[in-house]
Amino acid sequence: MPNQLTDLNLLYPEHLATVIARSDRALLRGGFDHLVMPAGTAHYQFLDDRDYPFCVNPHFKHWLPVTRAPGSWLVHTPGRRPRLIYLQPHDYWHVVPEVPAGYWVDHFEITIIRDAREALAHLPNDSARCAIIGEPGAALGDFVPNNPQAVIDLLHYQRAFKTPYELAMMRVASRIGARGHRAAEEAFRNGASEFAIHGAYLAATQLTENELPYGNIIALNEHGAVLHYTDLGRVPPVHPHSFLIDAGGSFHGYASDITRTWAWDRDGEFQDLIDAVEQAQLGFCAQVRAGQSYPDLHLHAHHVLAGVLRDHGFLRMSPESAVESGVSSVFFPHGLGHSIGLQVHDVAGFAADDAGTTIPKPPGHPYLRLTRRLEPGMVTTIEPGLYFVDMLLAELRTRPEARDVDWDRVDAFRRYGGIRIEDDVVCTGGQPENLTRDAFAAIAV
Ligand code: GLY
Ligand code: MN
Ligand code: MN
Repeated sequence: MPNQLTDLNLLYPEHLATVIARSDRALLRGGFDHLVMPAGTAHYQFLDDRDYPFCVNPHFKHWLPVTRAPGSWLVHTPGRRPRLIYLQPHDYWHVVPEVPAGYWVDHFEITIIRDAREALAHLPNDSARCAIIGEPGAALGDFVPNNPQAVIDLLHYQRAFKTPYELAMMRVASRIGARGHRAAEEAFRNGASEFAIHGAYLAATQLTENELPYGNIIALNEHGAVLHYTDLGRVPPVHPHSFLIDAGGSFHGYASDITRTWAWDRDGEFQDLIDAVEQAQLGFCAQVRAGQSYPDLHLHAHHVLAGVLRDHGFLRMSPESAVESGVSSVFFPHGLGHSIGLQVHDVAGFAADDAGTTIPKPPGHPYLRLTRRLEPGMVTTIEPGLYFVDMLLAELRTRPEARDVDWDRVDAFRRYGGIRIEDDVVCTGGQPENLTRDAFAAIAV
């Protein structure tokens, strides 16, 4: 692996300059003088003194690799060095956020405060001139988040275009996730329970559950048919047939989102179906190209997967009629993918421009999260799947198209749950960069 920290050190100034330039434009658009971003505050459970895991404001962590700073604030005023008001409370009950250190600190004017209310003395004079982007609970005095739509629209639209620094972060997040996946696969081969596989994943990534970019989906057998299955069975199945794992890594607040599906029997019918989905998935990844409409790629994926269903004996209808009648959506009931970055489902997936215009989803595809045309710098997941979902199959049985389904074959596959294969892919000016495949290759050496 290249020296990550040196790379980040070299790449960070350009990243910050990009974030500043976008912020300046957003302030001009919204008619504000300052961009103010509270990191956020602790959230408490009802009638309890226990707080939920802290989740930093994504606008805050876009500027600097700090994810554990409740009560801190960032202030940007065009033409000035950005200011970090950093809360390090006098507190012997909890771990206090570390002293700011690293490649980014010299780019900020940093003020340490010991009490959250002290931030007020360091925020701009006139809160009415501030675009304050943050959660409502972060309000402090007059500094109540106003989240101006014009400012947010511009920042969110632009956030789809990752800087080289961000891509470096995401390469690391991908390798962390890939290490977890390798350990999870090994645990599956050893007959482990979902819970034990999850433990193996955490150990290999060295992430706590709260540091994962999303809750691990670790599904054995028919559990793979629950798209977001998170139960973590404590007892292994008597007969393992299949394993679907959707789990990512995170690095300084950047996410990876990776899914793999494994067959217990490497020479069996389920492996054949996995191979077909994987071949299709690689074809879709190759189409992550500048100018490609993502909804068109999603619809193309439906046609290809409907062809897989026909070729593997589940359907007796053309891919065209399977897609037109909605039958393909019974087996592939989610979107092909989404933008990813600071949030696993990154913002502005439907943005036509930076002024709030949106691109609608294709009719009949309510779960697609990305309708933009791909451009260099965007990172998207490509995650086709085929599932045997009882609820959706029961509904299909009542429709006229049911006669073109081989129900015996479908029923025989219910025990496998489903297949999803998910990579994170960068759109470039040329060949796509597959962060996930590269990460698996890098950790294999
Ligand atoms: N891990 C959730 C997703 O793939 O979108
Ligand atoms: Mn995903
Ligand atoms: Mn996923």
